[in-house]
Amino acid sequence: MIVAIDGPAASGKGTLARRLAEHYRLPHLDTGLLYRAAARTLIDEGRRLDDVAAAVKAARGLALIDFDEVALRGREMGEAASVVAALPEVRAALVETQQRFAKRPGGAVLDGRDIGTVICPDATVKIFVTASPETRAQRRALELRSRGEPSNYAKVLGDILHRDRRDSSRSTAPLKPATDALILDTTDLDVEATFREALRLVETQLDAKDATQLRSAVP
Ligand code: CDP
Repeated sequence: MIVAIDGPAASGKGTLARRLAEHYRLPHLDTGLLYRAAARTLIDEGRRLDDVAAAVKAARGLALIDFDEVALRGREMGEAASVVAALPEVRAALVETQQRFAKRPGGAVLDGRDIGTVICPDATVKIFVTASPETRAQRRALELRSRGEPSNYAKVLGDILHRDRRDSSRSTAPLKPATDALILDTTDLDVEATFREALRLVETQLDAKDATQLRSAVP
């Protein structure tokens, strides 16, 4: 089973993807980390974020050693990742790694922006997680504060709106729900309620797929 979770910044998709992966005992890939790590390599090398050749090299050269989550999770790296992620050549360089992960025996859970639309168009279940920008800004400000990063609600909200615009308007793999994605609005849901609702969506989808298979097996 492949579970594709997409959504905008701070919608709760990462936490949900982790919980679903634990529940179904599937490996989980947070694809945002790939773009964050590529951006970080460029910054460490003192290069511009729109240096296509260097960005592709950084994306192709990613190794597990690059995934120091604490260093990658910060506010600035999210913004830098979104600039690098708008480069079609960088996205192309990362497709195969993500698809290989998704095709592991038994399946996987992947979260990002284009999992249901580009990386895994045939995913078993696709969930598009969303929430109002104000709720997402509150969550992100709390998260940053809990990690000791200074955070100001108005600035975080501004960042989120700016990043939503860039991610949704880019020409390659823009942030948008797949036509067959189930929409999960978490504005009024906490982590536990989001997980329960997502579980219900996954199970309903699995039951529907089982029923379709049974029907098509009837001569
Ligand atoms: O946690 P948050 O949603 O803020 O960030 P993230 O998921 O780590 O993604 C950081 C940036 O990487 C996003 O703003 C996107 O521009 C980009 N990204 C993408 O384009 N495609 C993905 N599959 C994942 C992330």
